[in-house]
Amino acid sequence: MNFNSKLTYWYSTHKRDLPWRTTKNPYNIWLSEIILQQTQIQQGMPYYLKFIEHYPTVFDLAKASEDMVLKDWQGLGYYSRARNLHKTAKFVAKELKGIFPKTYKDLLTLKGVGDYTASAIASICYEEKTAVVDGNVYRVLARFFGIKTPINSTQGIQQFKSVATAQLPKKNIGDYNQAIMEFGARQCKPKSPDCTICPLSKDCLAFNTGTIQTLPVKLKKIKIKKKYFNFLVILSKDQKTILEQRTKKGIWQQLYQFPLIESSKPETSIDWSQNSEYSAFKNLSIDSITLYNKNEIIHKLSHQELHIKFWIIQTSSTLKNGIKWSDVSKYAVPVVIDRFIQKFRTELLFF
Ligand code: ADE
Repeated sequence: MNFNSKLTYWYSTHKRDLPWRTTKNPYNIWLSEIILQQTQIQQGMPYYLKFIEHYPTVFDLAKASEDMVLKDWQGLGYYSRARNLHKTAKFVAKELKGIFPKTYKDLLTLKGVGDYTASAIASICYEEKTAVVDGNVYRVLARFFGIKTPINSTQGIQQFKSVATAQLPKKNIGDYNQAIMEFGARQCKPKSPDCTICPLSKDCLAFNTGTIQTLPVKLKKIKIKKKYFNFLVILSKDQKTILEQRTKKGIWQQLYQFPLIESSKPETSIDWSQNSEYSAFKNLSIDSITLYNKNEIIHKLSHQELHIKFWIIQTSSTLKNGIKWSDVSKYAVPVVIDRFIQKFRTELLFF
């Protein structure tokens, strides 16, 4: 048996029963693949089930408000993916009358659908001979063929795509693509894979040369920028607070947050008189300002590291346009803020 038939055979006996594996409907496959780009299968499954329940068809997703979609996406991170998902649903529903493109090339024209997703949909739904290359596939190919080219270099991206393409079987392309991804996730794991039970180990270059731990090669990341986020949690006499929608491009766009003072160094106190954006607060009569978390929360992203503090600001004023604390959890917020809200609400009585 060759490389691809061994993988396909392995898959036939190890594949997991997953809800999107019982269909070839491109809406379901597209949705599952977008979610699975964000997270692993076990963590992604509840999101997939929730989306299919709330939006059984592309028309339902297109009709939903962006806030609802973001709320359902909450916890998966990289919210631009959720916004693209929603935009694409609207495009497919309106412009394409609900019919997804049927080829790799046409699928690539959809927002948020890149090489990986286009190959996954085209092969799984339409058996097009196009190879998927995700993190798992990079690892399997780099190890088996002993490829040392960095997987995140321009040359590496091209080389791995062409090696992956050369391995495609004549038929059952969709199953084979899923087989190699699943094999990477469950057998050829990043750390300490059990090569004694691996059906490919006999011909695996990395196994035979003792280089499993060094492959695949990845170029070092660029410098991580630190940012200091100070969220102002207003607690008014009439049990209200203020949430604002982030309009700025980038992280958490469109999500809600407490008013934020962002700085490039840690703050030990809060002074918004310096901050013209918060001139609206100047008229509040402040009773106390206390730092809620003595240890700042550190939120690591690909290019930046957020150091987060919540400041509780008690005021004896009332907030005409404030949001009742009992309504706060209706808003789509970043997970760090959601965690704060859940904890803080149980303690509210003590304030
Ligand atoms: N990872 C992401 N999508 C997958 C799929 N369809 N099968 C196996 N692993 C995956």
